[in-house]
Parts: sequence; structure tokens; C-alpha cells
Amino acid sequence: FVHQLADESVGMDELLISPLRLEPEASLPLPLDLYGAGRRNSAGLDLTVEPMRAPLLAAYAATALPAVPEFDVKTTSSAYQTSAMSYQKWSKTPVHERSAILRRAADALEAELPRFCALMVKEAFKTWGDSVAEVREAADFLRYYANEAERIMVPVALPGPTGESNELRLTARGVWVCISPWNFPLAIFMGQVAAALATGNTVLAKPAEQTPAVAFEAVRLLHRAGVPEGALQLAHGPGDTVGAALVAQPGIAGVVFTGSTEVARIINRALAAKDGPIVPLIAETGGINAMLVDSTALPEQVADAVLQSSFRSAGQRCSALRLLCVHEGIADGVIEMIRGAAKELVAGDPADLATDVGPVIDRQAWGAIRRHLERLVSTSKPVTVIEDSTQSATNPIANLIPPSAFEVAAVADVQQEIFGPVLHIVRWRGDPAAVIDQINALGYGLTLGIQTRIDSRAQALAARARVGNVYINRNMIGAVVGVQPFGGEGLSGTGPKAGGPHYLARFCAEQTVTVNT
Ligand code: SER
Repeated sequence: FVHQLADESVGMDELLISPLRLEPEASLPLPLDLYGAGRRNSAGLDLTVEPMRAPLLAAYAATALPAVPEFDVKTTSSAYQTSAMSYQKWSKTPVHERSAILRRAADALEAELPRFCALMVKEAFKTWGDSVAEVREAADFLRYYANEAERIMVPVALPGPTGESNELRLTARGVWVCISPWNFPLAIFMGQVAAALATGNTVLAKPAEQTPAVAFEAVRLLHRAGVPEGALQLAHGPGDTVGAALVAQPGIAGVVFTGSTEVARIINRALAAKDGPIVPLIAETGGINAMLVDSTALPEQVADAVLQSSFRSAGQRCSALRLLCVHEGIADGVIEMIRGAAKELVAGDPADLATDVGPVIDRQAWGAIRRHLERLVSTSKPVTVIEDSTQSATNPIANLIPPSAFEVAAVADVQQEIFGPVLHIVRWRGDPAAVIDQINALGYGLTLGIQTRIDSRAQALAARARVGNVYINRNMIGAVVGVQPFGGEGLSGTGPKAGGPHYLARFCAEQTVTVNT
């Protein structure tokens, strides 16, 4: 064992191995329910689905997806004018009143949890477990940004020379365009909108074209809670027409976008090409997220963390694990455990409470993942490929991709984010810092998992990694609002971190007022 550690360049001072620390949910035998008991959100609310079975299924039966009118790009200018007029009043509404409205919306959302879950299961094919967690997260965003706005939107007196007073004030900027993704059709939509509204801005919100109904109902809920209709307008439609028209609209104060790196670049270029004020962009994009496992790691904990991180939400999280880098000394055992556990996952109808992995969002996504899998089958070593019934017309669940994993030769073999339940595994030996350097070289920087029982090594590798969120000895998804501020760097986004203390400031202008007293 000591020889093996020496081979991993562990110094003698690092040989004090910390005791085992299992995650509470990482019990043995492996928990094959990805949504097992005991998961809580930042408010300590239980995220377990089973006790809610009856209201969730009743809501599913009673809820129909509303037809959402498409935004007409010819009306972009008048929608903007409405928003700009509403801004005059909303920005002057005292922050406590704005925050009270957002808190009311959070309460209403939780009161309507089963209906919003049903909408997400129907429209985005989310599992019930994911849907419950997402309603909780959306409510967390509303409350957190309500509190944060009250914290930061008060003038701060700054020390200065005698004979003058100095004050720094944060103010709203104007009309924001919020462009949100389909993978978190409620939480990210609500997070963007709540941040802009809490700080006194008004919003033109363009949800992903795959998930307009969830956004439509979220907007109705916010209006009912007291957000003026002019302060929040929904603009549903394709990105290349509706999104492009909103971004091109003169006068907008900022754009917040969550989605692909490629679209973030398109928006960035469009904003840069505009005349007039320089318009800020907040972009949160994807990642080729890795987990580094050394030979001291606990295989059961690794397998549990891998399953959660790679396959939950059918791998459709920007935080999801794509690349497992496991030390060759324990690789066989870890891979065997992953293979066994992955086979137990239930891939199927998202409306079924027993389903762990639902379908991917649409046929286009399915096709792209399938093509990637076909390449992997011909070039890599399959670790687990659940035999695929999804290609045939007889399969009743469209767009299902069962979880699969492949061994590839090197970190650099994974250059593209595959947004589905597909794991790539690389064996390594030698210095783990070199593996971190290879991961950094991919250019993304969102999440990283580290599994080791050498605390000093974990800290040194975390410091070396150019990523926004590092998770040590646990899974690497499901950042909790206000607890694990979330967002990356490099190809993964501009920052600031959603659900963190610096987020709202980016929606604000700053003014320093100096008075000669
Ligand atoms: N915020 C999500 C997570 O942490 C990803 O978008 O999993």
C-alpha cells in the first residue's frame, strides 16, 4: 500500500490518512434509488418523494400543459417599452416590498409543489425526485435573493477625510433579458428572474423553447404574488429568432444566460456588435466535469457518487460527471462496482415513481448522444452498456438513453460535453497533480470531484484545479442555494455564482456619492 502511494507521489507528511467519512446516504449495500431518503434542501426540507406519492400522482392526473403563445419578434420594441416604463416604478419600489413579493411567490410555489412537479414531469420528462428538488430550489432562489437584495441594496458609508461624506449605493440597471435552459425549467428560470427583480430591474424572460409551459406557469405565479405584469414579460420562442431579437433590442441593460458555451459566444458577439452602452453578459455554460479518484478512496463511496453524478437527471446537468479518472490500483474494483450498480438503475417512464433515469429532452438530443455512443462502441472499451431497446419503434418511452460507461485511453480523448447519461473512465498512475493539469487543459471549469482520504492532497488538488465547484468525497451535483454558490470559469461561464453572495451585485449599477460637508 505504501509502495502504491509512493507511486502516486504522496509525500511522507501526507501519510496520515483520515478516517473514513461516509456520506450519510452512502450506506451499504449501494443505494440504488438515486433519490433516497435523507436528502434535504438549504431550508432542511426533506426531498424524499415516496411520502408525497398520492398528491404527486393526483396532480399528474389533473395537470395539463398550457398552450403558450409564441412571442412575435415584431413586438420586441413595444415589449421593451412596456418593460422600460414598468422599470420607472419597480426600481423605486422599496427593496423590502420587492422582497416581500418574492417571498410570497416562494410560499405559493411550495403550496403548489405537486402541480409544478407534474408540469416538469410532463414537459421536461424529469423524474419526480428531480422535480421535487427543483421546486425546492426555485423557492430557495426566491427567498435567498429576497434576503440578499435587502442586504446589499442599502447605502454603505465609506471612511474618508474629514469634511466630506462618502457613500456607495447599488441601484438597478434597467431591463434585463433572461434566457434560461430546459434542464432546470423552473429553478434556473426562477433564479435568473428573481435576481433581476429583487434588485429592481425589469425582465423580458425567454425560456428554452422545449419548456415554455413551466415558465408560463412560473410567470403567472409571480404575477399573482405581486410582480407587476409589465415588470416581467414572457417571450417564448426559438433562440435564433426571439432570443436574438431580445438581445439586439437597443436599450437593454444586461443579459443573463444559462445554456451552451456556443450560444453564450453568439450572445456575447451580438452584444459586442451593438452600438450604445456596453451591455454586460452573465453566462453559465457547460463543462467536461471530472472526478479524480486516488488509491486511498473508498470504492463504495466512489461508486455511489459516480452514479448520482453521472446518471441522475439522465446526465442532463451542467454539473454532471463526464470523466472519471481513477487510479489504476483500484480501478478494476471501482469499475466493477459501477457496472453492477448501474445495471440496477431503472431507466424508463418519468411518471413512474420507481424510475431513476428518464428520457433525454428531445429527439435531437437523443440522436447526438446516440451518435457519440456509436463512436465510443467502436473506439473504446465498454464498461457498462445497458442493452438498448430505445432505437426500436416498439419502445414505448421515446428518447430514452440507458446509463452507460466506457473506458477511454486519456483525459484528452474527451473534448466534447455529452449532455446525457454517458460516463467516460480513464485510468491513471503517477502524480495526480498531472491529471488535474490535463483536466484544466480541457478548458472548461465547472465542477470537479476528488475522492481521497488524504486531506492535504484533496486541498492541494482543489487549489490546483481551475473550476468553480469542487466536491470532496461526495457526489458533485445539486449545489444548494446559499450553501454551495454555483458557477464556473473558462469555457464554463463568466461568473458570478448563482446562489452566492456576489450574484446580485452584477445586476446592479454602483454609484459613489461624495458630499462636501
Ligand atoms: N445547479 C445544478 C447542480 O448543481 C446544475 O445546474 O447540479
